[in-house]
Amino acid sequence: MSKRIEVKDLNVYYSKFLAVEDVSINIEPRSVTAFIGPSGCGKSTFLRTLNRMHEVIPGARVEGEVLLDGEDLYGTGVDPVLVRRQVGMVFQRPNPFPTMSIRDNVLAGVRLNDRRMSKGDSDALVEKSLVGANLWNEVKDRLDKPGSGLSGGQQQRLCIARAIAVEPEVLLMDEPCSALDPISTLAIEDLIDQLKQEYTIVIVTHNMQQASRVSDRTAFFNIAGTGKPGKLIEYDDTSTIFSTPSVQATEDYVSGRFG
Ligand SMILES: Nc1ncnc2c1ncn2[C@@H]1O[C@H](COP(=O)(O)OP(=O)(O)OP(=O)(O)O)[C@@H](O)[C@H]1O
Ligand SMILES: [Mg+2]
Repeated sequence: MSKRIEVKDLNVYYSKFLAVEDVSINIEPRSVTAFIGPSGCGKSTFLRTLNRMHEVIPGARVEGEVLLDGEDLYGTGVDPVLVRRQVGMVFQRPNPFPTMSIRDNVLAGVRLNDRRMSKGDSDALVEKSLVGANLWNEVKDRLDKPGSGLSGGQQQRLCIARAIAVEPEVLLMDEPCSALDPISTLAIEDLIDQLKQEYTIVIVTHNMQQASRVSDRTAFFNIAGTGKPGKLIEYDDTSTIFSTPSVQATEDYVSGRFG
């Protein structure tokens, strides 16, 4: 269920503005890759191009290739809806559908793809996804209550359950813990550690401890100044990035001297 991502010479534009320049990176399956770097360096912009989510933004476009196990996501005839089914995304703010029940939230993505599912099958999928998101025990007695009645950390795990219910190959997470307290953050980090057995995971984070705790590889992005494009500066094993990076800017950033 886990696939390799290869990005070749990717540029990302918002209309004429080059936001991210010339990124090439290989992301291994069954691993966690962290994207770090100062605000505005293009982490979210780049992340969204890994499942064509940027295409919902008017004027946003890419040049280059993103291969998922060798297949170009941007190839002619490739359906972006199918791309997003294989490459799921979890956002910064937990965004369950507030009036929908917990159960229907889990099934929301699946129902878009496959409307005819028996009650037995959907019950099994709801349980499996909530177990996978480490939320089942907390919600199993209130599956028909609205998703908005959960705590922030529970809502974020509900969003992860919704993302994994469609059985993606890759999970992209853009600062998934930034709105959460430390306990919920640790719960999500534990979950990420379990999920990497099955998925390719990419996480954007501003929290250096989090990057060093959860990720196997770390990519440092930076920007030379306002209006300049973000670039991938250094990409290596997380332990190397945090102990002996080869670029001075990486060392300055991970040691808290800027950003
Ligand atoms: N929808 C958009 N339209 C136009 N420009 C955008 C859009 N989204 C982001 N940008 C610009 O692209 C650049 C990169 O932004 P992006 O949000 O990717 O940075 P980031 O690294 O995720 O920052 P942060 O850490 O603050 O989330 C910035 O200059 C930003 O202003
Ligand atoms: Mg961002």
